[in-house]
Amino acid sequence: MQSRLVSMEEGKDPSSTIAFRTTQSRALQLRFLQIFLLLLCLGLGFSIISMRMLRYFGVKKIALATTTTIFPCYHQEVNYVESWIRPPSKLWHTMNDSELLWRASFVPLRKEYPFKRVPKIAFMFLTKGPLPLAPLWERFLKGHEQHYSIYVHALPPYVSDFPESSVFYRRQIPSQVVEWGEMSMCDAERRLLANALLDISNEWFILLSEACIPLHNFSIIYHYISRSEYSFVGSFDDPGPYGRGRYNSEMQPVVTLEQWRKGAQWFEVNRRLAIVIIQDTMYHPKFKEFCKPACYVDEHYFPTMLSIEAPHLLANRTFTWTDWSRGGAHPATFEKNDITEDLFKRMSEGQLCLYNNQLSTVCYLFARKFAPSALEPLLEMASKVFGF
Ligand SMILES: *[C@@H]1O[C@H](CO)[C@@H](O)[C@H](O)[C@H]1NC(C)=O
Ligand SMILES: *[C@@H]1O[C@H](CO)[C@@H](O)[C@H](O)[C@H]1NC(C)=O
Ligand SMILES: *[C@@H]1O[C@H](CO)[C@@H](O)[C@H](O)[C@H]1NC(C)=O
Repeated sequence: MQSRLVSMEEGKDPSSTIAFRTTQSRALQLRFLQIFLLLLCLGLGFSIISMRMLRYFGVKKIALATTTTIFPCYHQEVNYVESWIRPPSKLWHTMNDSELLWRASFVPLRKEYPFKRVPKIAFMFLTKGPLPLAPLWERFLKGHEQHYSIYVHALPPYVSDFPESSVFYRRQIPSQVVEWGEMSMCDAERRLLANALLDISNEWFILLSEACIPLHNFSIIYHYISRSEYSFVGSFDDPGPYGRGRYNSEMQPVVTLEQWRKGAQWFEVNRRLAIVIIQDTMYHPKFKEFCKPACYVDEHYFPTMLSIEAPHLLANRTFTWTDWSRGGAHPATFEKNDITEDLFKRMSEGQLCLYNNQLSTVCYLFARKFAPSALEPLLEMASKVFGF
C-alpha cells in the first residue's frame, strides 16, 4: 500500500495508479458487503428475538409495548376497557378521602358485563395493627384465589410486613387514625368499602376485625352469601335507653325517631349497598354532629341509613357470632383454654334464623372475639370442626 501511494503521488507509473484504483474500489465493495452482512445479521437476530418474545409474552403485550413506544397516547385507547376491568395493581394510592369516595362512586348502569365477571368476596379487616389469626385465614382462603380479595385498614403508623407468599402481602390500604365509637371508625369502614369498590369484581363486602374467625369452609361461606337475597346487616328498633335513648331529635327531618335503628358493627353488604354507604353526604354530617358517645355511631349510622334507603335488601341480622352472655360493655374474648369443640357446638346448636325467608339452622358464618393465644388450638381443630 505504502509503495503504491508513493508512486501515485509521484505520477510516474499510470498503470500502477489504475491498479491502485481497482484495489481501492474492491476494498470499498468489501466494506459495503461487510456492512450489509452485519445489518442482515442484526435484522435476523432482532426477528428471532421478537418471535421468541411473542411466543413467550403473547402477541398483545408486545404489540402494546410497540404502540406505546411509537404512539404514547395510543396506549390508553387500546387498553381502555381493560383498565376498568382489571383490579388496581397496587392498593397504595395518594387519593384523599373525598377523592377516593368520589372515584369509588362511579357505577356502571348496564346489567350486562362485556367480559366474564367472577364475583368475589372482599374481606375487609379493620384492625389496630397485626393480624395474629392470619395463619387460620390463610388456610381458610387457600385454593380460592379467584373468589376473594383482601383489604386491611390498620392504625398508622403501623405497616404490615407479611411475606410475599401471604394472602395479606401488600393488602393494606392508606389508613387513618380511628377512635373507637367515634365517626372516624365509620370513616375507616367507608375507606375500606371505597378501596374494595375499585375492583369491579368485588360483589360482597364483609367487615371483620383481627379477632374474627371463619366458622365454615370457603365453599359453604361463598355459597351462603352468593345465594342470599339479602345482605347481613344487623338492624332493629330497640325501644330502650341504648336504642331509641341515643336518638337526638336535632337529626330531624333527615332521621326521625321511628327510623332510628341499632345493629352490630360487623356487617356484610352487597355492591349496591356499599355504594349507598360511600355516596352518602346527607346522613353523614347529622350522625357526625348528633351521635357522639354515649351514642356509639358505628352501631347506628349504617343500620339506620340502610333501613331508610334500601330496607328490602336487608336481612336485619348479622352473621358474626359474638358472646354477650358474660355481661358488660364488651363481649367475651376467648383465650387458648376456652377453645373446645363444645364452644363451637354452643354457637351452632339450637340456632334458628331466616335465610331467604325460610327457617335455617346455619345462622353464623364468622365469630369473635378470639385472642392471639387461641390460634394454636383453632388450627388444630379447624379441619374437624370448621371443615378447612
Ligand atoms: C382532598 O384534596 C382536595 C384537592 O387538594 C381538597 O379540595 C379536599 O378538600 C381534600 N379532602 C380532604 C378530605 O382532605
Ligand atoms: C366444605 O364443608 C362441607 C360440609 O362440611 C363439605 O361437604 C365440603 O366438601 C367442604 N368443601 C371443601 C372444598 O372442603
Ligand atoms: C328488614 O327490616 C325492614 C324494615 O326496617 C323491612 O322492610 C325488611 O323487609 C326486613 N327484611 C327482612 C328480610 O325481613
